[in-house]
Amino acid sequence: MTTKPTVCKAVFPVAGLGTRFLPATKAAPKEMLPVVDKPLIQYAVEEAYEAGIRHMVFVTGRNKRAIEDHFDTAYELETELEAAQKHELLALVRSIKPDDMDCSYVRQPRSLGLGHAVLCAQPLVGKEPFAVLLADDLMTGVDGGKSVLAQMVDVFARVGTSILAVQEVPQEHVRRYGIVAGDAAGERLTRVHTMVEKPRPEASPSRMGVAGRYILTPAVFDEIRQQPRGTGGEIQLTDGIARLMSTEGVHAYLYEGKRYDCGSKHGFLEATVELALKHPEVGPDFRAYLRNTIC
Ligand code: G1P
Repeated sequence: MTTKPTVCKAVFPVAGLGTRFLPATKAAPKEMLPVVDKPLIQYAVEEAYEAGIRHMVFVTGRNKRAIEDHFDTAYELETELEAAQKHELLALVRSIKPDDMDCSYVRQPRSLGLGHAVLCAQPLVGKEPFAVLLADDLMTGVDGGKSVLAQMVDVFARVGTSILAVQEVPQEHVRRYGIVAGDAAGERLTRVHTMVEKPRPEASPSRMGVAGRYILTPAVFDEIRQQPRGTGGEIQLTDGIARLMSTEGVHAYLYEGKRYDCGSKHGFLEATVELALKHPEVGPDFRAYLRNTIC
Protein backbone atom coordinates (compact mmCIF):
# COMPACT_ATOMS: atom_id res chain seq x y z
CA MET A 1 0.00 0.00 0.00
CA THR A 2 1.36 3.45 -0.90
CA THR A 3 0.69 6.41 1.35
CA LYS A 4 -0.15 9.70 -0.31
CA PRO A 5 2.64 12.27 -0.04
CA THR A 6 1.96 15.12 2.37
CA VAL A 7 3.29 18.65 2.27
CA CYS A 8 6.23 19.09 4.68
CA LYS A 9 8.08 22.07 3.20
CA ALA A 10 7.13 25.63 2.32
CA VAL A 11 9.06 27.98 0.06
CA PHE A 12 8.97 31.74 0.66
CA PRO A 13 10.40 33.78 -2.24
CA VAL A 14 11.58 36.93 -0.44
CA ALA A 15 14.29 38.29 -2.70
CA GLY A 16 12.12 40.95 -4.42
CA LEU A 17 13.11 44.61 -4.22
CA GLY A 18 9.76 45.97 -3.05
CA THR A 19 9.91 49.01 -5.33
CA ARG A 20 6.16 49.65 -4.87
CA PHE A 21 6.88 50.51 -1.24
CA LEU A 22 9.79 52.90 -1.55
CA PRO A 23 11.11 54.71 0.41
CA ALA A 24 10.13 52.30 3.25
CA THR A 25 11.88 49.42 1.50
CA LYS A 26 15.12 51.20 0.63
CA ALA A 27 17.09 49.46 3.39
CA ALA A 28 14.45 47.21 5.03
CA PRO A 29 12.92 44.11 3.39
CA LYS A 30 9.28 44.63 2.32
CA GLU A 31 8.45 41.31 4.00
CA MET A 32 9.38 42.89 7.34
CA LEU A 33 6.78 45.68 7.08
CA PRO A 34 4.46 45.20 10.05
CA VAL A 35 0.71 44.84 9.87
CA VAL A 36 -0.34 45.93 13.38
CA ASP A 37 2.46 44.16 15.30
CA LYS A 38 3.78 41.34 13.11
CA PRO A 39 5.84 41.50 9.93
CA LEU A 40 4.22 40.20 6.73
CA ILE A 41 6.60 37.24 6.55
CA GLN A 42 5.53 36.07 10.01
CA TYR A 43 1.87 35.91 8.94
CA ALA A 44 2.87 33.69 6.00
CA VAL A 45 5.10 31.44 8.12
CA GLU A 46 2.35 31.05 10.73
CA GLU A 47 -0.10 30.09 7.99
CA ALA A 48 2.29 27.37 6.76
CA TYR A 49 2.88 26.13 10.32
CA GLU A 50 -0.87 25.97 10.94
CA ALA A 51 -1.17 23.84 7.78
CA GLY A 52 1.17 21.28 9.37
CA ILE A 53 4.38 22.37 7.60
CA ARG A 54 7.52 22.39 9.74
CA HIS A 55 10.34 23.13 7.28
CA MET A 56 10.42 26.70 5.97
CA VAL A 57 12.69 27.49 3.02
CA PHE A 58 13.40 31.17 2.36
CA VAL A 59 14.73 32.27 -1.03
CA THR A 60 16.46 35.49 -0.03
CA GLY A 61 18.62 38.15 -1.62
CA ARG A 62 20.78 41.11 -0.72
CA ASN A 63 19.44 43.37 2.09
CA LYS A 64 17.26 40.57 3.52
CA ARG A 65 19.30 39.72 6.62
CA ALA A 66 16.51 41.02 8.88
CA ILE A 67 14.33 38.05 7.84
CA GLU A 68 16.94 35.53 8.99
CA ASP A 69 17.41 37.44 12.24
CA HIS A 70 13.65 37.47 12.84
CA PHE A 71 13.51 33.66 12.86
CA ASP A 72 16.73 33.25 14.87
CA THR A 73 17.48 33.48 18.58
CA ALA A 74 17.93 37.09 19.76
CA TYR A 75 20.40 36.52 22.60
CA GLU A 76 20.76 40.08 23.90
CA LEU A 77 17.02 40.77 23.77
CA GLU A 78 16.10 37.45 25.39
CA THR A 79 18.72 37.86 28.15
CA GLU A 80 17.45 41.37 28.92
CA LEU A 81 13.82 40.28 28.98
CA GLU A 82 14.70 37.35 31.24
CA ALA A 83 16.63 39.58 33.66
CA ALA A 84 13.72 42.04 33.74
CA GLN A 85 11.30 39.13 34.36
CA LYS A 86 9.24 40.13 31.35
CA HIS A 87 8.02 36.59 30.87
CA GLU A 88 5.15 37.32 28.49
CA LEU A 89 7.34 39.29 26.10
CA LEU A 90 10.02 36.61 26.29
CA ALA A 91 7.47 33.92 25.39
CA LEU A 92 6.22 36.10 22.54
CA VAL A 93 9.72 36.54 21.12
CA ARG A 94 10.50 32.84 21.44
CA SER A 95 7.21 31.76 19.86
CA ILE A 96 8.25 33.28 16.50
CA LYS A 97 10.23 30.12 15.79
CA PRO A 98 8.72 27.12 17.58
CA ASP A 99 11.25 24.40 18.52
CA ASP A 100 9.80 21.95 16.00
CA MET A 101 10.18 24.37 13.08
CA ASP A 102 13.28 24.37 10.84
CA CYS A 103 14.35 27.29 8.67
CA SER A 104 16.67 27.07 5.67
CA TYR A 105 17.94 29.89 3.49
CA VAL A 106 19.13 30.00 -0.08
CA ARG A 107 20.11 33.09 -2.04
CA GLN A 108 18.62 34.08 -5.38
CA PRO A 109 21.64 35.75 -6.95
CA ARG A 110 19.77 37.69 -9.64
CA SER A 111 16.16 38.93 -10.00
CA LEU A 112 15.14 36.66 -12.86
CA GLY A 113 11.52 36.14 -11.81
CA LEU A 114 9.31 34.12 -9.48
CA GLY A 115 9.87 30.84 -11.36
CA HIS A 116 13.62 31.30 -11.00
CA ALA A 117 13.23 32.04 -7.27
CA VAL A 118 11.29 28.79 -6.79
CA LEU A 119 13.94 26.90 -8.78
CA CYS A 120 16.61 28.20 -6.37
CA ALA A 121 14.82 26.21 -3.62
CA GLN A 122 15.10 22.87 -5.45
CA PRO A 123 18.23 21.63 -3.61
CA LEU A 124 16.42 22.17 -0.29
CA VAL A 125 13.03 20.82 -1.40
CA GLY A 126 14.17 17.70 -3.25
CA LYS A 127 11.61 15.34 -4.74
CA GLU A 128 8.65 16.19 -2.52
CA PRO A 129 5.49 18.21 -3.04
CA PHE A 130 5.87 21.66 -1.48
CA ALA A 131 3.96 24.85 -0.79
CA VAL A 132 4.85 28.31 -2.09
CA LEU A 133 3.66 31.35 -0.14
CA LEU A 134 4.07 34.92 -1.37
CA ALA A 135 4.23 36.99 1.80
CA ASP A 136 2.92 40.10 -0.03
CA ASP A 137 -0.42 38.36 -0.10
CA LEU A 138 -1.66 38.31 3.47
CA MET A 139 -4.38 35.67 3.59
CA THR A 140 -6.92 35.12 6.32
CA GLY A 141 -9.29 32.14 6.50
CA VAL A 142 -12.89 32.63 7.55
CA ASP A 143 -13.29 33.29 11.28
CA GLY A 144 -13.04 30.03 13.19
CA GLY A 145 -12.17 28.10 10.01
CA LYS A 146 -8.97 26.78 8.51
CA SER A 147 -6.27 28.96 7.00
CA VAL A 148 -6.13 29.13 3.21
CA LEU A 149 -3.03 26.92 2.98
CA ALA A 150 -4.54 24.37 5.38
CA GLN A 151 -7.60 24.18 3.08
CA MET A 152 -5.26 23.57 0.14
CA VAL A 153 -3.36 20.82 1.97
CA ASP A 154 -6.71 19.04 2.46
CA VAL A 155 -7.51 19.40 -1.24
CA PHE A 156 -4.04 18.13 -2.19
CA ALA A 157 -4.54 15.04 -0.03
CA ARG A 158 -7.69 14.31 -2.08
CA VAL A 159 -6.58 15.07 -5.63
CA GLY A 160 -2.78 14.72 -5.53
CA THR A 161 -2.06 17.29 -8.26
CA SER A 162 -0.59 20.77 -7.96
CA ILE A 163 -3.14 23.17 -6.43
CA LEU A 164 -3.42 26.92 -6.99
CA ALA A 165 -5.42 29.25 -4.75
CA VAL A 166 -7.73 31.38 -6.89
CA GLN A 167 -10.23 34.18 -6.46
CA GLU A 168 -12.47 36.06 -8.85
CA VAL A 169 -10.92 39.41 -9.80
CA PRO A 170 -12.41 42.40 -11.65
CA GLN A 171 -11.86 42.33 -15.43
CA GLU A 172 -9.76 45.52 -15.29
CA HIS A 173 -7.38 43.87 -12.79
CA VAL A 174 -6.60 40.63 -14.68
CA ARG A 175 -3.29 42.09 -15.89
CA ARG A 176 -2.01 41.94 -12.29
CA TYR A 177 -2.43 38.17 -11.96
CA GLY A 178 -1.77 34.73 -13.30
CA ILE A 179 -5.18 33.85 -14.78
CA VAL A 180 -6.56 30.31 -15.10
CA ALA A 181 -9.52 28.71 -16.88
CA GLY A 182 -10.73 25.11 -16.85
CA ASP A 183 -13.52 22.63 -16.16
CA ALA A 184 -15.50 22.29 -12.93
CA ALA A 185 -14.10 19.35 -10.95
CA GLY A 186 -16.04 19.45 -7.68
CA GLU A 187 -16.94 21.96 -5.01
CA ARG A 188 -14.64 25.02 -5.31
CA LEU A 189 -12.39 23.01 -7.63
CA THR A 190 -11.48 23.53 -11.31
CA ARG A 191 -9.29 21.33 -13.45
CA VAL A 192 -7.09 23.90 -15.16
CA HIS A 193 -6.64 23.76 -18.95
CA THR A 194 -5.41 27.30 -19.58
CA MET A 195 -3.02 29.44 -17.57
CA VAL A 196 -1.48 32.79 -18.56
CA GLU A 197 0.54 35.40 -16.70
CA LYS A 198 -0.86 38.94 -16.57
CA PRO A 199 -3.05 38.91 -19.72
CA ARG A 200 -4.60 42.01 -21.27
CA PRO A 201 -8.25 42.28 -20.12
CA GLU A 202 -9.60 41.72 -23.64
CA ALA A 203 -7.46 38.58 -24.10
CA SER A 204 -8.03 37.04 -20.66
CA PRO A 205 -9.42 33.48 -20.63
CA SER A 206 -11.37 34.17 -17.41
CA ARG A 207 -11.43 36.32 -14.28
CA MET A 208 -10.03 33.61 -12.03
CA GLY A 209 -6.84 35.14 -10.61
CA VAL A 210 -4.13 33.19 -8.80
CA ALA A 211 -3.43 34.38 -5.25
CA GLY A 212 0.00 33.87 -3.73
CA ARG A 213 -0.53 30.34 -2.41
CA TYR A 214 0.47 27.20 -4.32
CA ILE A 215 1.03 23.53 -3.61
CA LEU A 216 3.31 22.17 -6.31
CA THR A 217 4.66 18.78 -7.24
CA PRO A 218 8.46 18.54 -7.69
CA ALA A 219 8.02 17.99 -11.46
CA VAL A 220 7.57 21.75 -11.73
CA PHE A 221 11.33 22.23 -11.26
CA ASP A 222 12.15 20.46 -14.54
CA GLU A 223 9.43 22.41 -16.34
CA ILE A 224 10.78 25.75 -15.08
CA ARG A 225 14.31 24.76 -16.06
CA GLN A 226 13.25 24.02 -19.65
CA GLN A 227 10.86 26.88 -20.31
CA PRO A 228 11.73 30.05 -22.24
CA ARG A 229 11.49 33.47 -20.57
CA GLY A 230 7.94 34.75 -20.32
CA THR A 231 6.03 37.95 -19.52
CA GLY A 232 8.35 40.86 -18.73
CA GLY A 233 11.37 38.78 -19.84
CA GLU A 234 11.18 36.88 -16.53
CA ILE A 235 11.24 33.18 -15.72
CA GLN A 236 7.61 32.94 -14.64
CA LEU A 237 6.25 30.40 -12.17
CA THR A 238 2.96 30.53 -14.08
CA ASP A 239 4.64 29.18 -17.24
CA GLY A 240 6.19 26.24 -15.36
CA ILE A 241 2.83 25.34 -13.83
CA ALA A 242 1.13 25.68 -17.24
CA ARG A 243 3.51 23.03 -18.59
CA LEU A 244 2.45 20.67 -15.79
CA MET A 245 -1.17 20.79 -17.02
CA SER A 246 -0.52 18.37 -19.87
CA THR A 247 1.63 15.91 -17.89
CA GLU A 248 0.22 15.67 -14.35
CA GLY A 249 -2.81 17.95 -14.24
CA VAL A 250 -3.30 21.07 -12.12
CA HIS A 251 -6.31 22.15 -10.04
CA ALA A 252 -7.43 25.63 -9.03
CA TYR A 253 -9.09 25.95 -5.64
CA LEU A 254 -11.47 28.81 -4.88
CA TYR A 255 -10.32 29.45 -1.32
CA GLU A 256 -12.51 30.45 1.60
CA GLY A 257 -11.15 33.59 3.19
CA LYS A 258 -9.73 36.94 2.25
CA ARG A 259 -6.58 38.16 0.51
CA TYR A 260 -4.95 41.49 1.21
CA ASP A 261 -2.54 42.60 -1.51
CA CYS A 262 0.09 44.02 0.83
CA GLY A 263 2.40 44.65 -2.13
CA SER A 264 0.16 47.67 -2.80
CA LYS A 265 -0.34 50.61 -0.47
CA HIS A 266 -4.13 50.30 -0.64
CA GLY A 267 -4.11 46.58 0.24
CA PHE A 268 -1.62 47.17 3.02
CA LEU A 269 -3.87 49.85 4.55
CA GLU A 270 -6.93 47.58 4.28
CA ALA A 271 -5.04 44.81 6.08
CA THR A 272 -3.84 47.18 8.77
CA VAL A 273 -7.31 48.54 9.50
CA GLU A 274 -9.14 45.19 9.37
CA LEU A 275 -6.57 43.25 11.40
CA ALA A 276 -6.30 46.08 13.92
CA LEU A 277 -10.08 45.93 14.44
CA LYS A 278 -9.79 42.18 15.18
CA HIS A 279 -6.70 42.52 17.39
CA PRO A 280 -7.48 41.53 21.00
CA GLU A 281 -5.29 44.25 22.52
CA VAL A 282 -5.91 47.30 20.33
CA GLY A 283 -9.15 46.31 18.53
CA PRO A 284 -11.82 47.78 20.84
CA ASP A 285 -10.09 51.15 21.31
CA PHE A 286 -9.23 51.38 17.62
CA ARG A 287 -12.87 50.74 16.69
CA ALA A 288 -13.97 53.52 19.04
CA TYR A 289 -11.31 55.81 17.58
CA LEU A 290 -12.49 55.16 14.02
CA ARG A 291 -16.13 55.74 15.02
CA ASN A 292 -15.42 59.00 16.83
CA THR A 293 -12.75 60.49 14.65
CA ILE A 294 -13.24 59.31 11.10
CA CYS A 295 -16.89 58.40 10.54
C1 G1P B 1 2.75 36.90 -8.78
C2 G1P B 1 2.46 35.80 -9.82
C3 G1P B 1 1.02 35.92 -10.31
C4 G1P B 1 0.06 35.86 -9.13
C5 G1P B 1 0.43 36.97 -8.10
C6 G1P B 1 -0.40 36.84 -6.83
O1 G1P B 1 2.73 38.15 -9.44
O2 G1P B 1 3.37 35.92 -10.89
O3 G1P B 1 0.73 34.86 -11.20
O4 G1P B 1 -1.27 36.03 -9.56
O5 G1P B 1 1.82 36.88 -7.72
O6 G1P B 1 -0.11 37.88 -5.93
P1 G1P B 1 3.37 39.49 -8.79
O7 G1P B 1 2.32 40.04 -7.86
O8 G1P B 1 4.61 39.07 -8.05
O9 G1P B 1 3.65 40.40 -9.93
